[in-house]
Amino acid sequence: MINKLDALYTEFKTKIETLSTQPDVLNLKSEYLGKKGLVSDVLKSLKDATVEQRKEIGPKANAIKDQMTKDVVSKLSDLELAEINEKLANNRIDITLTDDVKNTNTHSGGFHPRTLIQREIEDIFLSMGFDILDGPHIEDEFHNFEALNIPGDHPARDMQDTFWFHNPHEESEQKKHLLRTHTSTIQVRGMQSRKPPFKFIAPGTVFRCERTDASHEMVFNQLEGMMVGEDISVSHLIYFMKTILKEIFKKEVEVRLRPGFFPFVEPGFELDIKCLICNAKGCSVCKQVGWVELLPCGMVHPNVLKAGGIDPEKYNGFAFGLGLDRLVMMKYGIDDIRHLQSGDLRFNTQFRTF
Ligand code: DAH
Repeated sequence: MINKLDALYTEFKTKIETLSTQPDVLNLKSEYLGKKGLVSDVLKSLKDATVEQRKEIGPKANAIKDQMTKDVVSKLSDLELAEINEKLANNRIDITLTDDVKNTNTHSGGFHPRTLIQREIEDIFLSMGFDILDGPHIEDEFHNFEALNIPGDHPARDMQDTFWFHNPHEESEQKKHLLRTHTSTIQVRGMQSRKPPFKFIAPGTVFRCERTDASHEMVFNQLEGMMVGEDISVSHLIYFMKTILKEIFKKEVEVRLRPGFFPFVEPGFELDIKCLICNAKGCSVCKQVGWVELLPCGMVHPNVLKAGGIDPEKYNGFAFGLGLDRLVMMKYGIDDIRHLQSGDLRFNTQFRTF
């Protein structure tokens, strides 16, 4: 019987060496070591053996079983290792290669500095419970002017040189179309679609038929804000404006509030910040005055509330129109607004965040 066991082991050993998958090894294990396996078969005849023979065969059988189990474990781990090595060899990434060698023809993208600032501002306002609204670039006269208390003959229309769409078949003046000259149009849409109290911001691109210079562009960006409810006061307005500027510049910036005229607010203000490009010494961005107009704002005019379907006897509110591009220029020390719209990658990639 001892010879039988030895022969069984030799046979087992030869077989296991030829196997190359884990399931095959497990099958072999149960073929030899399972309850109805070959080793058990041999040991069945143990009942006919003498006590002396049993004393000899018992330990021998156990030793062989142990050895077979060890062989199985070691074969399984060899196969596992081989599998890992094969995967590593096939998916080899050389992490020591530099970026430009890895992507010879591609460049990793980056956000435009305006996107970075806009997202930062959106996050700040979202955390204060504001909604974020959007509106169309092509607007009608009602939303761009009429509803904002700027009737047809109002001189304020000249302040905003407008790109009009010429349509000889336009049936009424009210329906004349234009490229929106400001994001205040979204105030009207916001009021029409909600009930007070509410507060929202609305970032977006605006268009003016203007001569360009270091601080003027024909296509630029604003961020409108509006809060409507009962008993809203100028102090609410100042609180929100100061909070936002402090969060953006990560420091207290010097501001000044002066009266400003906008038909859609009464009273209206101009909030200026000290020019951070020249530190108030005077430069082309601040037109040598040391201050930059950044945040026109005011208390919403009753006519505007009415046009938005809100009772001005019961509710009031504030609004502001942040010059988003100017803010970007102040924050990053950019001395010409035209860089922002240039599409020049040498400019854009300076602000990569990854
Ligand atoms: N829409 C104005 C402009 O483009 C900016 C503005 C001024 C917006 C005062 C406002 C405001 O909401 O209250 O010149």
